[in-house]
Amino acid sequence: MCGIVGYVGKNQAMETLVNSLKKLEYRGYDSAGVSVLNGNITTYKTEGSIDKLSAILPSEMDGKIGIAHTRWATHGAPSTTNAHPHESGDFSVVHNGIIENYLEIREKLEQNGYEFKSETDTEVIVHLINFNYSNNSDSSFYDAVRESLQELEGSYAVAILCKEYPDTLIAARKDSPLVLGLGDSEVFVSSDVTAFLDHTKNVVFVEDGEIVSIDSSGVNYTNFDGQNIQKEITTIDWDVEAAEKAGYEHFMLKEIHEQVSAIQDTFSGKIFELEGKIKLDELNLDPKDITEIERIEIIACGTSWNAGLLAKYLFEKIAGVHTDVSTSSEFRYGDPVMRNDVLTIAITQSGETADTLAAIRSTNQYGCNSIAITNVVGSTITRETENVLYTRAGPEIGVAATKTFTSQLLTLYLLAIYFGRIRYQISAEDSRELLEAIKRLPGQIQKVLEQRNQIKECAVEYSDVADFFFIGRYLNYPIALEGALKLKEISYIHAEGYAAGELKHGPIALLTKDTPVVAIATHGNTYEKILSNIKEVKARSAKVIAVADEDDREIRKYVDTVLKIPKTHELLSPILSAVVLQLLAYYVALERGCAIDKPRNLAKSVTVE
Ligand code: F6R
Repeated sequence: MCGIVGYVGKNQAMETLVNSLKKLEYRGYDSAGVSVLNGNITTYKTEGSIDKLSAILPSEMDGKIGIAHTRWATHGAPSTTNAHPHESGDFSVVHNGIIENYLEIREKLEQNGYEFKSETDTEVIVHLINFNYSNNSDSSFYDAVRESLQELEGSYAVAILCKEYPDTLIAARKDSPLVLGLGDSEVFVSSDVTAFLDHTKNVVFVEDGEIVSIDSSGVNYTNFDGQNIQKEITTIDWDVEAAEKAGYEHFMLKEIHEQVSAIQDTFSGKIFELEGKIKLDELNLDPKDITEIERIEIIACGTSWNAGLLAKYLFEKIAGVHTDVSTSSEFRYGDPVMRNDVLTIAITQSGETADTLAAIRSTNQYGCNSIAITNVVGSTITRETENVLYTRAGPEIGVAATKTFTSQLLTLYLLAIYFGRIRYQISAEDSRELLEAIKRLPGQIQKVLEQRNQIKECAVEYSDVADFFFIGRYLNYPIALEGALKLKEISYIHAEGYAAGELKHGPIALLTKDTPVVAIATHGNTYEKILSNIKEVKARSAKVIAVADEDDREIRKYVDTVLKIPKTHELLSPILSAVVLQLLAYYVALERGCAIDKPRNLAKSVTVE
């Protein structure tokens, strides 16, 4: 997730763009840049924050048209070279999204003499536009953009300048947000309305497959086929803070909703479901290394550790590799038995957790291969491991991890299937079935989100209890732990997650009519077993809230409330159940009036031991 802004108007573009960009900083903040068109295109960019960009800009720059960008790195580390805008010939481009076929296009352009400076996927866009423009003398700026967009696969919101068109800015959208602000003799283009709310509240939402051409005579809208289209102007009544949260009351709720796109972005370009194949180009492990892995050691903390626990089941079932999972703080002071045929995997959304960094450093002496799974490009963990797999959840502002957790889970599923295919532990047919189901997840998460009112009702009913239990078996056990963790950290209700079979070994003594139990009871090989556990719980008069498959009629007989998830592959239901439990925790905390985005005593990145 990045932020883009464009401006065409009566004011000096540089100052206007930088002010707008600051409002988008929550979308990414690892590097920033600006291009202003005034006869020539002048570009400034830098690694670091928008304040750092401001510090390198001249005090004045004449020019009333420009584009700007704040970056959340996906391809290539945060650096000045990788920062946007990217330039080629007379063109300058800013981009938010992921170009899936960038390697293919890059190869074609390199064969045609184009030299790439950055590691980004974005740079192909600007060279491609330049290529199409230069190769056809009849081609206008608009034609070259339109032709280039037809070649791009993936997601993008782009804003483009061309030196030969001194008063024109072109923008387009596919699967990434783009909105226009129509002010008094000025037009803004942006990833969201926050950027220009102090100038205008009249907006036009650009839809997928639309191109916008803005010049001194006005705004022209077309589709990708070049046909003119009419757009409606909407007047919005948000203030800046509400707009940053896209109208959601909290970042956490916004981020729960963003899981639809976070999951899509995380698998985008990696899944080839027809062949039952996964491509993980980032991994530098050859098939021999993967076949020879004797054991996997996962190291992580908190929510990331819960993701690791689920991954243990996946690596063992799908890839046939024995897997251990350690909390980083225990691992670093223990005496682990390690050899060079152990693969270590560090899971950390921030990439900066002190215990995880120390634990992974302590494994260096054994000569093991290592992989980091993180959401932050260029974070410290990426320098501590040989291989990095990035989740593509975008920045997470709410302290409680939500979209980063499900993106970690998905990445671990992909890795397990990838290993499983190379180790001949999963057939092409079974892999295809799983990958097809993964592709349906974004739509299914959307369906879970649409049930938020029912989940809210349930949350309100139980919001004043003192203790909660969460139980699950097998793949649902880590989700029970995560459900309990989410609830306790944001609502301050005491909550315990248990493997359902463990209840009778002690904790069942605590159950009364006042201790609700959330049972994750989706279909799978332990379904009958968890039904028995639910009956044990009910016999102690505790209320049961079940998370169950939408077609499960049986479960209703035994529980007080059913929260449903869409039917999916039985290995994938944990991702959908996790979303239900995030919403449950959120609405309980909301009802209790808690500081949801900044829970007491917690920090987003735990950089101390
Ligand atoms: C819980 C939460 C924490 C983190 C933990 C590890 O919502 O966010 O438990 O999961 O502090 O952080 P990372 O993944 O950044 O290493």
